[in-house]
Amino acid sequence: MHELDHYIYPHRVLHWLVAVGVLLALASGLTIGFMGFERVYALLGNAGTNVFYAGHKTLGVLLLLLMTLRIVTRVAFVVPDHDPPLSAFERVLSTAVHHLLYACLVIMPILGWLATASGGYPVEFFTWHLPGLIGEHPALSETLYAWHARVGWAIVVLVVLHLCGALYHWRIKRDQVMTRMSLFD
Ligand code: HEM
Ligand code: HEM
Repeated sequence: MHELDHYIYPHRVLHWLVAVGVLLALASGLTIGFMGFERVYALLGNAGTNVFYAGHKTLGVLLLLLMTLRIVTRVAFVVPDHDPPLSAFERVLSTAVHHLLYACLVIMPILGWLATASGGYPVEFFTWHLPGLIGEHPALSETLYAWHARVGWAIVVLVVLHLCGALYHWRIKRDQVMTRMSLFD
């Protein structure tokens, strides 16, 4: 197939790296959200809890880096035309979901970062501690964590809508939409 039938290859790689990363970040984050620190601690012990939290933060910061690269590959390179064209409804809905996903996936790690720092906790990235950027402020930290949870649920809803759209194009309409993002066709 001609190259312009696809997003450029680096953008496709970034799409699938972010897809896997977001699912892992949601799974680890929601585990913390549902169980709470105490039950995670009772289950994993001191070392395990530290690794679990540090893993979630590292993944979140990696997603922020990947999304920055992805915005560059999205803005700097031509997006292939849909052939056949999408209906007006499909175009408006998919564009809205894609833009909201982009916005949420940039806001989410920043909220996590600032909530962590203002709570007085380390912003861990692998074995490094990144600068907190804001000072300790427990009340602000609580508000930022609350928004981290809300935006997390918004991402869950957007990903479900996105997956419904992908499945619809791939299995029902059987058009070229899945191929545009495929690493192999
Ligand atoms: C796209 C990236 C991220 C996603 C999708 C994500 C997702 C989530 C979700 C869904 C929760 C559960 C919220 C709740 O129900 O209370 C959570 C909790 C948490 N996140 Fe993230 N997160 C991301 C990035 C980050 C980053 C970059 C950090 C810090 C550097 C971070 C630190 C935390 C912490 C400490 C909690 C636990 C909060 C608590 O104790 O209730 N997250 N995350
Ligand atoms: C795991 C299952 C997934 C499948 C099967 C899938 C499939 C696709 C396909 C076929 C496209 C191309 C749409 C077009 O041509 O306009 C696309 C685009 C897109 N996907 Fe996914 N996707 C998945 C997961 C995700 C996840 C988890 C995210 C983000 C959280 C995401 C974010 C996006 C965005 C923002 C676009 C718009 C194109 C761009 O600018 O990158 N996808 N996806």
